[in-house]
Formats: sequence, structure tokens, C-alpha cells
Amino acid sequence: MELAPRFAPIVAEHLLLRPLAVAEAAAVAAYHRDPTVARYQGWGVVDRSEIERDLTAMQSRIPCDVPGAWFQLALVERAGGALVGDLGVRRLTEAHDAAEIGYTVAPPYQRRGYATEAVRAVSDWLLGRRALARVIAVMDGRNAASIAVAERAGFARVSCVETRHGGAPTVLLTYERRA
Ligand SMILES: CC(C)(COP(=O)(O)OP(=O)(O)OC[C@H]1O[C@@H](n2cnc3c(N)ncnc32)[C@H](O)[C@@H]1OP(=O)(O)O)[C@@H](O)C(=O)NCCC(=O)NCCS
Repeated sequence: MELAPRFAPIVAEHLLLRPLAVAEAAAVAAYHRDPTVARYQGWGVVDRSEIERDLTAMQSRIPCDVPGAWFQLALVERAGGALVGDLGVRRLTEAHDAAEIGYTVAPPYQRRGYATEAVRAVSDWLLGRRALARVIAVMDGRNAASIAVAERAGFARVSCVETRHGGAPTVLLTYERRA
């Protein structure tokens, strides 16, 4: 009998990164609905049952096994076990040696360095253990917090494309960290 692949949680200084559990969908939906969190995101209406469905489908997988499919990690405080945010990762379909990440920290836990710590730890893992060549993050050019996180975690800006978001002109920035 073939065993399902196992993913050992990533342990960082203050955070543990492990697969999001289906039971955490309601908590994730609640902070994703916060207008300050959703401001620069493309996710539209946040639907708890959709998150539950995606998390259920993900449970037998490991990050980056299926090109294009997002894998959602929970960011958990090692002291106390609180769920403080999430970080999605997927292998790109157009470049199999590359992964994309997207990250969110719930408002009460922001500005403690958690996103920077998580992005560093996951990209170390992707470029090291998973032997990928590069990790990218794509963000709205007005998202100062996300830009600061990417730059602090060792990513460099590689492209800037004009776009519109919510009816307003903006730019879409791609940041990249290489092995
Ligand atoms: C982007 C986000 C994940 C940052 O999370 P975080 O845990 O607060 O980030 P960090 O604490 O690691 O912040 C690192 C630096 O980013 C900058 N930063 C953080 N929040 C900021 C804000 N609201 N405005 C401007 N700069 C900010 C600061 O320079 C900060 O360092 P400092 O606290 O020492 O000044 C969080 O703001 C968030 O979830 N936003 C909504 C979702 C989102 O936009 N995600 C990015 C999608 S690509």
C-alpha cells in the first residue's frame, strides 16, 4: 500500500507552519473578510464553504506537488498555539522550477514580524528542501506592508505591470527570491 506523502511542519523562531485544518475555515474566512485585509486582494466575496472544500481537497497533499494547486499553510504561534494567519503556496504551471506564495496575517497579530518570518521560512524550505530555483510573490503596488515583507525576506522586484483594481489604476508588482 502506498502511503500518502507527509509534510513535516516548518518550525521558525516564533511560528510553526503546518497545513490549515478544515476546522479552521471559519476563522480564516473571518479575517479574510476584514476590509483592511481584503483591500488589495483579488479574492472578492469570502465564502467559508469554498475554503472548507479547498482545505478538504488539500489534506492528502504536500506543498507544490500538483502544479497550479494552492496549498494553504497555517501560521501558528509556537507560544500559545494561536492561528495568526495563513500562507498559500503553489508550483507555477508555466515554470515547474518556481513557486508562488501569498500571505495574510490577521489584524490583531500584524506588525510583529510574523509575515516576514513566515515568508523567509517557507522560501528557505522551497529553495532548499524542495530544490526549486525561485519563489515569487505578486502584489498591488499600493500594498506597502506586503512590499516591505517581501523586501525584508530577501525578495527583489522583477516586474511592474500597469493594471486596474477595484476600478482604480495601479501596478502589479512581482517580487522574486532565487536559490
Ligand atoms: C502584508 C501583511 C501579511 C504583513 O503582515 P505583518 O505580519 O504585519 O508583517 P511584518 O510584521 O512582518 O511587517 C514587516 C514590515 O512591513 C511593514 N508594514 C507592516 N504593516 C504595514 C502597514 N500596514 N503599512 C506600512 N508598512 C507596513 C513594516 O515596515 C513592518 O516592519 P515594522 O513593523 O518593523 O515597521 C499583512 O499586512 C496582511 O495580511 N495584509 C493583508 C493581506 C495582504 O495584503 N497580503 C499580501 C498579499 S501579497
